[in-house]
Amino acid sequence: MRYEWKDKVVLITGASSGIGRALALALGRRGSRVGLLARRAEVLIELAGEVERAGGKALALAADVRDAGEMKKAAERVREQWGHVDVLVANAGMSTTTAGADLDAAEAGDVISINVIGVVNSVAAVLPSMIERGGGHLVAISSLAAYRGLPKSGAYSASKAAVSTLFESLRVDLRKRGIAVTVIHPGFIRTPMTAGRKKRLPFLLEVDDAACRILRAIERRARTYAFPWQLAAVVRLLKHVPNALYDRIASNSSFRD
Ligand SMILES: NC(=O)c1ccc[n+]([C@@H]2O[C@H](COP(=O)([O-])OP(=O)(O)OC[C@H]3O[C@@H](n4cnc5c(N)ncnc54)[C@H](OP(=O)(O)O)[C@@H]3O)[C@@H](O)[C@H]2O)c1
Repeated sequence: MRYEWKDKVVLITGASSGIGRALALALGRRGSRVGLLARRAEVLIELAGEVERAGGKALALAADVRDAGEMKKAAERVREQWGHVDVLVANAGMSTTTAGADLDAAEAGDVISINVIGVVNSVAAVLPSMIERGGGHLVAISSLAAYRGLPKSGAYSASKAAVSTLFESLRVDLRKRGIAVTVIHPGFIRTPMTAGRKKRLPFLLEVDDAACRILRAIERRARTYAFPWQLAAVVRLLKHVPNALYDRIASNSSFRD
């Protein structure tokens, strides 16, 4: 049966930029009702207009994913407006390119609190009402960086590994509750997050292409989806090479510059 996005209620965190913004516009074109959550209210208000002009309905929700109370209020506003949340896309995130020798506790703390605690707060804001309703779909945007500790990415790789395992546990625990759980592992996507990298990023994808692939993975209720396949294959292979070989390969790679 064809998946029907029309009138689906989708809450997207990190909607003001990059992947979240592209998902919101793609859902607008499909006639969905989209909760747009990020910190920059003025950007969200403008985007809400674009989503509505594309054919959807939109609600701008200024909130910080690190704040559990703000996240609960934002989810409540979506339910007041449209009755429930069908799909949560926990997408908000930040990335850093700091070498291990320069490890900065405050910066690493920011990465972990946005990328991990932010996802926990997002799920906690929608899950009780999904359980009560006996349905819903939780989606997290993790990264291929979750598979191994990448160079200059200690906090980022750690945060994405945490999100992926968090979602695996949720998937197991929610199996009999009618709630689908999907974790997405993208490679490199052209967004403000990857802008300004000096080196060419392998298999870099355009953001609208990435958004379409993510929506298709949600439609088929994939448990996990890693893309593009070429980079996913490399990363899966690297997961199984001996540590000594991995260290040599990874320390000579320069894509994080
Ligand atoms: N681009 C890639 O190559 C790539 C690859 C793999 C995975 N990912 C993951 O995909 C997700 C989106 O990345 P992107 O490339 O689209 O990045 P982006 O363009 O930098 O967008 C990040 C989004 O997160 C929001 N955000 C950041 N901190 C927040 C906070 N504390 N509270 C609420 N919202 C917050 C930002 O909005 P405000 O600043 O307005 O709050 C923005 O909308 C991230 O989780 C990232 O790790 C990206």
